[in-house]
Amino acid sequence: MDSFIINGGKPLNGVVKISGAKNSALKLMCASLLTDEKLVLHNVPNLADITSMARLLAHLGVKLGTGDDDITGNTLTMHSDEIRELSAPYELVRRMRASIIVLGPLLAKHGKARISLPGGCAIGARPVDMHLKALEEMGAKIEIAEGYVIAECEKLRGADIYFEKVSVGATENSLMAATLADGVTTLHNAAAEPEIVDLCECLSKMGAKIEGAGSSVLKITGVEKLHGAEHNVVADRIEAGSFIIAAGITGGEITLENISAKTLGAILPKLKATGIEIEEKENSLIVKGNSIHSKDIITEPHPGFPTDMQAQFMALMTLADGTSTIQETIFENRFMHVPELARMGANIKISGNTAIVKGVTKLTGAEVMATDLRASFSLVLAALAAHGQTKINRVYHIDRGYEKVEEKLQKLGADIIRVAEKA
Ligand code: UD1
Repeated sequence: MDSFIINGGKPLNGVVKISGAKNSALKLMCASLLTDEKLVLHNVPNLADITSMARLLAHLGVKLGTGDDDITGNTLTMHSDEIRELSAPYELVRRMRASIIVLGPLLAKHGKARISLPGGCAIGARPVDMHLKALEEMGAKIEIAEGYVIAECEKLRGADIYFEKVSVGATENSLMAATLADGVTTLHNAAAEPEIVDLCECLSKMGAKIEGAGSSVLKITGVEKLHGAEHNVVADRIEAGSFIIAAGITGGEITLENISAKTLGAILPKLKATGIEIEEKENSLIVKGNSIHSKDIITEPHPGFPTDMQAQFMALMTLADGTSTIQETIFENRFMHVPELARMGANIKISGNTAIVKGVTKLTGAEVMATDLRASFSLVLAALAAHGQTKINRVYHIDRGYEKVEEKLQKLGADIIRVAEKA
């Protein structure tokens, strides 16, 4: 398992190109199952999760343009005209929970799907009950047997669906299923993340009829069939937010290319309030670190502050000029970075779903362990700002979601190397 060795204390300066959003690309790849024609995606990040999804789609019979296991470029073509398998086994699904998003498209297009239940993960139980309930409301018959979701339908029909809480995944599964259903589906309390808007845009290019993208009510009028399309994956707002904090925590100046301020929602005003200077250009941001002010956050569905930025924000707050409270409302177990940050000298107390972070004047290098994707980047941030050397173990988590991370950081002047170690 690889580790990172980081010698901290250097301000990061220079230019970084923000990649396409993993959380959008994965769902857009699933959308290819809705049509017999070719879907071409550009700006697809080269990441472990994308490779896992490519493997799963290849197993179902999708022809992938750049090879099933070897996704090298940033363009990916998918052709689902010869689907031969409607079952996604555990060994393909367990690597990545987003695999459940093939369920809606398979059901809508082929009337049948058998998908291994993804199971819990480090940050919480993450059930899929709302995905299943919505599809049942559209007429699917669903049973759970031997760890699999087994779903069947004649033809899905439009329905009025009320989600009891906002779920990105349940919105995506139902949205894709509804594009080929009979009649109109209305999704109430739908997720409004930029990645959902991106999916709506791509589905519309494929011929879907969708109103309300980016709002909490999505109205989808089912069509007979969808066709091929070409689409650019939206920029990764979480990667962008993470690099803004890299400038903030090291006191550097970074230009982020390929990202527009409007994709970042609540991230920008909150980071500005901590003292980071952010100049907004048309498709780039110039950010400059300053002294760090403490600010509170509560994680919320979009347009609120995203849970996927919580750990990185906490890393910044460990060096702030006062005390901040960080409340996590989306996932029940998303503070695993706290003991690791504490090993580096951070002063953090947890009370229920709230972390109270008292800023310290310096962090010091230590050996720490990455526990999940975003938590891993928070440790990288802390290490970049810390005095001395930090070793971050189990960085495979970071490879799931940050494209060429050490290369990008090295280009900005970070002293970071990857060390390959035996498991
Ligand atoms: C997606 C993102 C993830 C992000 C999360 C919240 C991808 C691949 N992942 O995950 O990075 O942190 O949105 O912005 O896009 N829930 C249920 N029942 C369900 C579905 C969800 O109770 O059927 C709960 C979850 O346990 C969680 C909350 O709803 O507490 C929100 O989860 P959801 O928005 O569905 O997250 P994901 O789509 O899994």
